[in-house]
Amino acid sequence: MAGADEPRADTAGLMEQIRDLKRRRNAVILAHNYQIGPVQDVADYVGDSLGLSRQAASTAADVIVFCGVHFMAETAAILSPGKTVLLPDLGAGCSLADTITADQLRRWKAAHPGARVVSYVNTSAEVKAESDYCCTSGNALAVVASIPEEVEVLFCPDFFLGSWIQKATGRRNMHVWMGECHVHAGIRAEDIRDARAAHPEAELLVHPECGCTSSVLYLLQEGEVPRERASVLSTEGMMRHAQGSASRRFLVATETGVLHRMRRQNPDKEFLPVTEGAVCTFMKRITLENTRDALLHLRHEVRVPEEVASRARLAIDRMLAIA
Ligand code: 13P
Ligand code: SF4
Repeated sequence: MAGADEPRADTAGLMEQIRDLKRRRNAVILAHNYQIGPVQDVADYVGDSLGLSRQAASTAADVIVFCGVHFMAETAAILSPGKTVLLPDLGAGCSLADTITADQLRRWKAAHPGARVVSYVNTSAEVKAESDYCCTSGNALAVVASIPEEVEVLFCPDFFLGSWIQKATGRRNMHVWMGECHVHAGIRAEDIRDARAAHPEAELLVHPECGCTSSVLYLLQEGEVPRERASVLSTEGMMRHAQGSASRRFLVATETGVLHRMRRQNPDKEFLPVTEGAVCTFMKRITLENTRDALLHLRHEVRVPEEVASRARLAIDRMLAIA
């Protein structure tokens, strides 16, 4: 009988098919930290948006299967124009990326001539093409800090991430778009309060897209939570922090997919989601079946017209140079 941690026979069979097709296609599988466990396990690289962009830019493979959402596959296509980039399910979108269009950004820019635009990676290629810099949660602070103090900044589309950067940099001439991710916005200050009350000794790991970010910063500022007991980090930042920390129990405020690798890499530590229901159904559209089919039929290819890609690439390259 198979042990609890061993993949079921059909899962193991699908993984074998994927590995075989991957060799035949000279493909690489890149998966985001929010993917389901078996997809993370079959991937060549699992990471945050920044790490995935770096991998997409440097891979020698002919085919990139992107197990993530549409804007991530677009970013890979922009960074690797000669490669075939596949997204196993074209319905894997992002509610945050949908909160701003290129037209809206053009109008915002027209109202702030001379401002530099910093766009979070969770945006369409057209929005990136209208931006001066791209950033991810892993390097947003460094990107904004690199812009001369006297220059106005337009930051889009995540309001919670933007507000966190505003506070962390003390920048007054920064305007923040009112977009949000429905999954992270749903992780509220009350959830943090309840989780801390149940586990007062646990260390808190918070993604800057969360609705609770400002209240966690407030708790830190007021000294209600000691500095070393709470951190605002990208998903990969959380992974690294969990491995390096001496704490035994962590409260994790982000999409629950991150728990898979955290638990695997740290079997002696405990990881509890602050909000059990923080599940991104877009990310979860990617399965072993559609990953296998993507490789088998070379579908669904994500392409970005070169006129858009060349402008978006400038913003992404500036980000990669700073990070
Ligand atoms: P990171 O993995 O870059 O922290 O981003 C999280 C996210 O919400 C991606 O959609
Ligand atoms: Fe988009 Fe939110 Fe899902 Fe990330 S978790 S892909 S920001 S909808």
